[in-house]
Amino acid sequence: MQILGVDIGGTGIKGAIVDTKTGELISERVRFETPHPATPQAVAETLKRLVTTLKYSGPIGCGFPARVLDGIVKTAANIDESWVEIPVNQMLSESLNCEVFVANDADVAGLCEAEIGAAKDSRGVVVFLTLGTGIGSSIFINGTPFLNTELGHLKFKGEEAEKYCSALVREKEELKWKEWGERLNSYLKYVAFILNPDLFVIGGGASKKFDKFKDKLSVGVPVVPAQHLNLAGIIGAAMYGEHCLHQHL
Ligand code: BGC
Repeated sequence: MQILGVDIGGTGIKGAIVDTKTGELISERVRFETPHPATPQAVAETLKRLVTTLKYSGPIGCGFPARVLDGIVKTAANIDESWVEIPVNQMLSESLNCEVFVANDADVAGLCEAEIGAAKDSRGVVVFLTLGTGIGSSIFINGTPFLNTELGHLKFKGEEAEKYCSALVREKEELKWKEWGERLNSYLKYVAFILNPDLFVIGGGASKKFDKFKDKLSVGVPVVPAQHLNLAGIIGAAMYGEHCLHQHL
C-alpha cells in the first residue's frame, strides 16, 4: 500500500509517501519546522501544508512526540501543553478532512525497525531508542510491541535521561561525539540493568552518525543503528496507518 507517513517531532515535521511493503519512499521527503508554540491548530496547519506540498489525498499515519493512548494525547514534553487530553486522531482527521492515525513517534519508528529493519529477525527483548529533541523508546518482546514506555523520562544522574543524553543536549552543550557517546553508554547500561534486553536499536538523527560514537558503547548487549536511520519515523508512521486501516475493515 502507498500511504503518507508523517513524523511530528519537537523540531521538525517530516513526511513522505511510503510503499509500506518495501519501506521505500515513493515521493520526496518534505520537512517543515515544528511551529512554536506547537499548539494543536499550528501543528494541524503545518500538516496541511505538508499534504498540499506532496499533492497527496488519502489516509495518513503519524508519529507524535508524546504518549498517545487510544487516540488521546496524554503527555507533552516537547510540544505545547494544550495537546494533553486532545483526541488527536479525531482532531487531525477533522482538520485535514481525511483519516489520520496517530501513535507515539518512537513506537512507530520501532515498528518499522522490528518489521523491516535492524530488529527484523530478533527474538527476545528489543529496545528501540530514538535520540532527537527528546529520547523516545519502544520495546518489542518476541516481536510484540509494548507501547508508550517513555524511557527517556527515566530519572538518571539527577535529571530526566533526555536532558542528559538526547541529540539536542549534544548540540546545546557542544559535546564531542565521543563525550556524548560516553553519556549514552551510561544511560544504555542503566536501561539494560532494568530491562535486560537482547538488542538495542538506535534511531533518530544520531543514528546517521553511529560510527562517530560506537566505540564508546560497552553495554554488554549488541547496539546497532536503525537500518532506516532517521527515516524509520516516517516509514513506521505509514506502516502504522496501514495497520489501523486494516483493523477498520
Ligand atoms: C516524549 C516521547 C517521545 C520522545 C521522542 C519525549 O520527550 O515524551 O513521547 O517519544 O520525546 O520524540
